[in-house]
Amino acid sequence: MAAAQNVPQPSAGPGAGQQHAEALDAAEVSRLRADFPILETQVGDQPLVYLDSGATSQNPRCVMEAEQQYYEQFNAAVHRGAHTLAVEATDHFEAARAAVARFIGAGDDEVVWTSNATEALNLLAYAFSNASAGRGGSAAERFRLGPGDEIVVTELEHHANLIPWQELAFRTGAALKYIPVDAAGALRMDLAPEVIGPRTRVVAFTHVSNMLGTITDVAALVALAREVGALTVLDGCQSVPHLPVDVKRLDVDFMAFSGHKMLGPTGIGALYGRRELLNAMPPFLTGGSMITTVTMERAEFLEAPNRFEAGTQRISQAVGLAAAVGYLDEVGMGRVAAWEERLGARMADGLAQLPGIRLLGPDGVARIGTATFDVEGVHPHDVGQFLDARGVAVRVGHHCAQPLHRALGVTASTRASTYLYNTEQDVDAMLNAVADVRGFFGAEA
Ligand SMILES: Cc1ncc(COP(=O)(O)O)c(C=O)c1O
Repeated sequence: MAAAQNVPQPSAGPGAGQQHAEALDAAEVSRLRADFPILETQVGDQPLVYLDSGATSQNPRCVMEAEQQYYEQFNAAVHRGAHTLAVEATDHFEAARAAVARFIGAGDDEVVWTSNATEALNLLAYAFSNASAGRGGSAAERFRLGPGDEIVVTELEHHANLIPWQELAFRTGAALKYIPVDAAGALRMDLAPEVIGPRTRVVAFTHVSNMLGTITDVAALVALAREVGALTVLDGCQSVPHLPVDVKRLDVDFMAFSGHKMLGPTGIGALYGRRELLNAMPPFLTGGSMITTVTMERAEFLEAPNRFEAGTQRISQAVGLAAAVGYLDEVGMGRVAAWEERLGARMADGLAQLPGIRLLGPDGVARIGTATFDVEGVHPHDVGQFLDARGVAVRVGHHCAQPLHRALGVTASTRASTYLYNTEQDVDAMLNAVADVRGFFGAEA
C-alpha cells in the first residue's frame, strides 16, 4: 500500500473504540495479511498465530521497502553535508518527521526522534533533572523540581514510565506519589483529586495499560493537572498504535511512543512536546548536531526538535516509521480500533467461559484488543510454551508492570494482544489452546 496523507482523527478517550463507526471486516483483514510476509511463518508444523503485538508488532512490506530504498538510494548523514545525497537524506528524514507529526496531530517541530518510548521518557526526566540543577536559566523554571515538589504517576505504569520518575525524584528530592488501582485493576479516579494537589509539578500516566489494555480517562487527569499547574506526560506506547490519537485534542504537554509497536522498525520512537515547552527545556544528550555555536567554555543549543537529537540519527528507521503511519492512515485508525475492540471482546468472552481461567482487569470497561489472564495451577511460562507448541505466540511474565501485578495478587500472567492483521480464527486458535492447558498440566483435578 502506498503512504496516504494523514487526516488527524478524533482523540481517543475512554471507550474510544466504540465511537468509531465501521470496523475492518474479515475480507479486508485477510487482504491486509498478505502485506505481512512473516504471518506466513510456520512454528514447527503449526501456522503462526501472532498475538504478541503489545510487545512488538510485525512490519508490512512497505516499511521494509522504504528502509531498503533509503539505503539503496539516499543514505547519508543528515543536517551535515552540502552534497546531493546528504540533502536528499535530510529531506527524507524531515518528511518522515512531518508524517509522524501529522499522524498524532502535532506540529513538525514538536516531534523529537528517540530510540523508543523508554528513551523519550528518560529524555524528559533527565531534561527536568538538568533544569533542576540550574541548566536552562529562567526559561526552564517550569521544569525545576526540588524538595517539597511532587511527581504523580499511576499504579498502572509500565516500568518505562515509572523508574525514570523514581530516579528524577531521587536526584531532585521531589516526592513520587501514585494513583492506585482497585482490586480489579481499575484506576481509582475517585482518589486522583487527593493525589494530585498544589505541590504536584508533573503528572505522568499511561493512555492504555500495557498489561490490561484498559484505557485511561486522559481528559479527567489532564483537567486535574491543569488546575494545579502541573505538566502532563502521556505514555502513548499502547494507544498510538491502536487508537486514533490527537495530542492537541488530548491537550497533553508531552507524549512518548515507540515505532516498533505500530508496524514500524525497531530503534525508533518519538517524544511529542508542546513547541514552547520543548524550546524552554535544557537538552538531555549533548554533542554534535544540536548546537549553534561552541567555544572551549560553553555551547549554545538549537531550537527543538534538533536540540534533543545529538549525534547521528536513526534515519532509515524514521523513514520506515513514516511508511508505517502511512499504512495505518490508509487503513484508518478508527477502523483498526473498532476491529481490535471486536477481537478483544471475543477473547474476553471466550476466556470467561473456560474453567480455571481468570481474566485480569476490571469488567465492562473499554479496552484495546488485549486480554491478560491467569491460568489456575499453571505457571504463565508453561502456558506460553504450551501455546507456542500450537503456534500461538503470546507474552508471559510481568510485562514490565510488576507493581500492577502485585496489586492484582499475581506475580506473572499471560497476555494475548491483537493488531489489525489478526483474525477471529487467530483468537479461536488461542482460546482452543488455552482450553487444553490445565488438562495437559494436570491442573484440573
Ligand atoms: C505502555 C508502555 N510504555 C512503555 C513501553 C516501553 O516501550 P519501549 O520498550 O519500546 O521503549 C512499553 C513497551 O512495552 C509499553 O507498553
